[in-house]
Amino acid sequence: MRAAIVLAAGKGTRMRSALPKALHPVGGRPMLEWVLDAARGAGCSPIVVVVGHGAESIREAVAGDDLLWVEQSEQLGTGHAVAQAEPALRAAGFGALGVGAVGVGEDRVVLVLSGDAPLVRAETLERLAACAEQGWGALAVARVDDPGSLGRVIQERDGRLARIVEVADANTEELAIDRVNSGHYALRCPALFGLLARVAPHNAQGELYLTDAVVAAAASGLEVRCFELGDACEAWGINDRADQARVHHELNRRHLAALMEQGVTVYEPDRVTVEASVTIASDCIVHPGVSLLGATRIASGCTLEAGAWLRDAVLAEGVTVLPYSVIDGAVLGAGASVGPFARLRPGTLLGAGAKVGNFVEVKAATLGPGVRASHLAYIGDATIGAGTNIGAGVVTCNYDGERKHRTEIGDNTFIGSDTMLVAPVKVGSRSITGAGSVITDEVPDDSLALGRARQRNLVGWSRRKRGK
Ligand code: UD1
Ligand code: MG
Repeated sequence: MRAAIVLAAGKGTRMRSALPKALHPVGGRPMLEWVLDAARGAGCSPIVVVVGHGAESIREAVAGDDLLWVEQSEQLGTGHAVAQAEPALRAAGFGALGVGAVGVGEDRVVLVLSGDAPLVRAETLERLAACAEQGWGALAVARVDDPGSLGRVIQERDGRLARIVEVADANTEELAIDRVNSGHYALRCPALFGLLARVAPHNAQGELYLTDAVVAAAASGLEVRCFELGDACEAWGINDRADQARVHHELNRRHLAALMEQGVTVYEPDRVTVEASVTIASDCIVHPGVSLLGATRIASGCTLEAGAWLRDAVLAEGVTVLPYSVIDGAVLGAGASVGPFARLRPGTLLGAGAKVGNFVEVKAATLGPGVRASHLAYIGDATIGAGTNIGAGVVTCNYDGERKHRTEIGDNTFIGSDTMLVAPVKVGSRSITGAGSVITDEVPDDSLALGRARQRNLVGWSRRKRGK
């Protein structure tokens, strides 16, 4: 097993946020989680996570038996952060660590990762570690179009690492360098800690730089390899909201590319949002403007039309979601159809072939197979049997001002347009309620319920009024 140290103590000042930077989401998960998963994927255990700013909330949000938490109470720089991990690594049995002699000897390669660079892949980390194992250590570098706030890497003619210059310390010439340090390293411990102990904060930010220790190792003659990232975007770190947007876009792109590979049609990937844990089976069609969030699971053959918004939704085979529908925490049976402009709230269960049409809101309700609620209705806290039709304008009056009550309707019943079902109330099977009825009492099976004033026609009344 190989250990990893993940740095996540920084405040992330440039995010200008009350939320610790490590918890800012990209692709639907906190950025730190992506880094931890890459480390796990590369076989790392334990993973020492260095936290400081917002430590408590990070520990709460990101859990794992393989994580060892270390606190860096003052954020004195990345070098200082790594040094804080030493006792935890030693306690975890990672050698007789200490400020030891600099040399390969008994040292073991440990991955050191920035918690704010979440695009790195597990395979990349494995190769980075393998690269380091051939010498003393390695850092991942990449040539990028927009080096932004990343540290610039300067190599000797023979490729050896010469310097890493932070933007705050760089001159114009150095700023123009497009080779950057991605913030992912494989370095030998405990030698690394010996090097860190000699780092001084002689830089524009007054910080103890991890990069200085890496450069010092190279300067002392240890073989520090620059591991070129095949995919340069793996180097993108997140220091501000623009970085966050760019990384989020890339994670979204990767997920959609994988889904397309698995047989999902996505007409305009740049106009679709799909979060990390969403799954979509083959032969689904995703139109532009669709958002698929949280734990949404979509079976094969579903169509999601323009503007559909799904969170924690479960769709069986062949469901159609028509434009601009919101489906939140609902479970939809095979062949169900929703929308356009429908809203399914948590606790909604649609049976196979059920249809919920425009401007219908459903909450905590079970609609049996083949139920139709095609227009303008509110169905809350209800159970509706198979084949029942809910007319336009029907409302389950579930709230009495203090408490919620349930409505129960049997199979193959016809609820006439504009029926008000004053809950708690039951309507039997194969019954009918007259349009505009206010139903307050139980309706038995096989009945017609009329709960409205009878119409009176006063013939000639309006003519007489006009004549006045
Ligand atoms: C750092 C590197 C830079 C590299 C970039 C990659 C240094 C000096 N610079 O710059 O060369 O290109 O990452 O993304 O290392 N952190 C702590 N404690 C601290 C300071 C930082 O845990 O005291 C953590 C941060 O939370 C963050 C990571 O270390 O996750 C990197 O720190 P950050 O301040 O973002 O450094 P960069 O300026 O991005
Ligand atoms: Mg950073």
